[in-house]
Amino acid sequence: MALRLNHMIFHSHKVSSFALPQSPSLRSYKVSMAATLHSTSRELENVKNPFSPPRELHVQVTHSMPPQKIEIFKSLDVWAEKNILVHLKPVEKSWQPSDFLPDPASEGFEEQVKELRERSKEIPDDYFVVLVGDMITEEALPTYQTMLNTLDGVRDETGASLTSWAIWTRAWTAEENRHGDLLNKYLYLSGRVNMKQIEKTIQYLIGSGMDPRTENSPYLGFIYTSFQERATFISHGNTARLAKEHGDIKLAQICGTIAADEKRHETAYTKIVEKLFEIDPDGTVLALADMMRKKISMPAHLMYDGHDDNLFEHFSAVAQRIGVYTAKDYADILEFLVGRWNVEKLTGLSGEGCKAQDYVCGLAPRIRKLEERAQGRAKQASKVPLSWVFGKEIMV
Ligand SMILES: [Fe+2]
Ligand SMILES: [Fe+2]
Repeated sequence: MALRLNHMIFHSHKVSSFALPQSPSLRSYKVSMAATLHSTSRELENVKNPFSPPRELHVQVTHSMPPQKIEIFKSLDVWAEKNILVHLKPVEKSWQPSDFLPDPASEGFEEQVKELRERSKEIPDDYFVVLVGDMITEEALPTYQTMLNTLDGVRDETGASLTSWAIWTRAWTAEENRHGDLLNKYLYLSGRVNMKQIEKTIQYLIGSGMDPRTENSPYLGFIYTSFQERATFISHGNTARLAKEHGDIKLAQICGTIAADEKRHETAYTKIVEKLFEIDPDGTVLALADMMRKKISMPAHLMYDGHDDNLFEHFSAVAQRIGVYTAKDYADILEFLVGRWNVEKLTGLSGEGCKAQDYVCGLAPRIRKLEERAQGRAKQASKVPLSWVFGKEIMV
């Protein structure tokens, strides 16, 4: 196992509203790392470097999965072809962003744009902040394809590999690519948001990359993607619901269509993890506990617009407040996955495996309790200017 110290984060990232209080072990880990970083003052010289977006603040671990387990994934190639690739939609049967947008080649284009803008006027700014955050998350797709291609045994070795795993990753990426594209074009046409600031945020975010702490392990990687697909399904589902409430049926359709894709992806990724539980219950439950101890970081947690050092926290707070993605959802997703994979019913586990099982099965209620306590502490409502909506002050 190779360990490498990561660079220091450049912006003061507070704990997000989704994140839980640090476990004591993680806290001491951070302290010792901070001590090490103290001597590397060269890092700090880069603080004003315009190419340096926020970076991860944790030790980066690589190749933690025993190499012999790579064979499991190679042997599952035919299984993946029959069970996973079936969850992709052929291009000819897929929706495209242009299906939901004014047709620039048609006579009625200007009228359609006008209608779109009229409808969007009824929607409050805080909704747009969340929709922008969701869109930016989707637009950092290069990072997610990279992440999948870090996973040992399933990565696309050539860029056009014919393994089922590689075919899945490329086709999944191609499906996902429509999400950011559609939301971006809708938001551009709406005229409600500052596109230049949004585009800067996307550029910073892709430059930041992300280390979801999956350590090149497809066990950890597919647990992470299972969680994330469900999180995006919930999030886009809620922006659809709210758009409808604000009277914009077309925007509701856009978000709902994206949510349906996320659901299909969730089905595929959770099926992979289900198979891993069948083949290697001990290894998989240990991976699930490991991932949950580290917490599932949100893919866009390093977002930055060149101004706001706490941009992700502000976006998250608005998402929480208007009910698009909340701390309760985090616990609900975990509980759903634990049920989906029948973790409680696993038998024949090692001592460590049993401990991991107990930990993950009891975690969702604990998260909820912590969250209720946090909610109980009266939080000062404050307003912050957000560049995405032209510096208007938004309640966070
Ligand atoms: Fe997506
Ligand atoms: Fe997705």
